Amino acid sequence: MPTATDLLTLDAAAQDLLFREARTANAFTDEPVTDEQLHAIYDLVKWGPSAMNSQPLRIIAVRSREARERLVEHMNGNNKAKTLTAPLTLVVTADADFHEHLPVTFPHAEGARESMAGNPGRPRMAHFNASIQLGYLILGIRAAGLAAGPMAGYDAEGVKREFLTGAEEVVAVVNVGRPGPDAWFQRLPRLEYDQVVRTV
Ligand SMILES: Cc1cc2nc3c(=O)[nH]c(=O)nc-3n(C[C@H](O)[C@H](O)[C@H](O)COP(=O)(O)O)c2cc1C
Repeated sequence: MPTATDLLTLDAAAQDLLFREARTANAFTDEPVTDEQLHAIYDLVKWGPSAMNSQPLRIIAVRSREARERLVEHMNGNNKAKTLTAPLTLVVTADADFHEHLPVTFPHAEGARESMAGNPGRPRMAHFNASIQLGYLILGIRAAGLAAGPMAGYDAEGVKREFLTGAEEVVAVVNVGRPGPDAWFQRLPRLEYDQVVRTV
């Protein structure tokens, strides 16, 4: 009888790296995360799908002490200390002006840019698809052997004022690095298959 692990094509070690043994990190060592690592992560996760190939994900890589302090100012309580000490922090945003790229990213659909320009659902579409891309990004960070600490606890207007331009909205802030001492909170239960899947 094959186990659930055997039924998947991805080898068991990779399943563990991406999911079963991967944890959300809350403390980091000071080992740097290089631009080359971030580049490699993006070059992997850019292949994840988005609606109309819209790719609204944008990333601000926060490295300098000065930028980090400006960001921490807008993080909520427990999120401040870990954001101050992470080797790399990513402000993940959604660009509602993604339609400007459609002539290149969705070239077969003539007039797509113009029709999306007048579509009032564009910001919501950007946020939804950038959120999906955030999931790919977290898995890409894990694929690089690093740990991610995604956070939604911040003053979005404050982060926006500080770092964003144009039609970008904040989706999440993600600390990245090697897990440090006491990096993990308690592993919390997941819902079981029968609680989540209904077959009709
Ligand atoms: C989008 C998102 C937002 C989150 N926001 C916060 C946050 O603001 N602060 C925090 O400490 N953890 C935050 N978390 C971490 C979750 O609580 C954590 O990923 C979840 O409990 C699973 O933990 P595990 O990976 O260790 O099993 C967030 C996670 C995600 C994916």
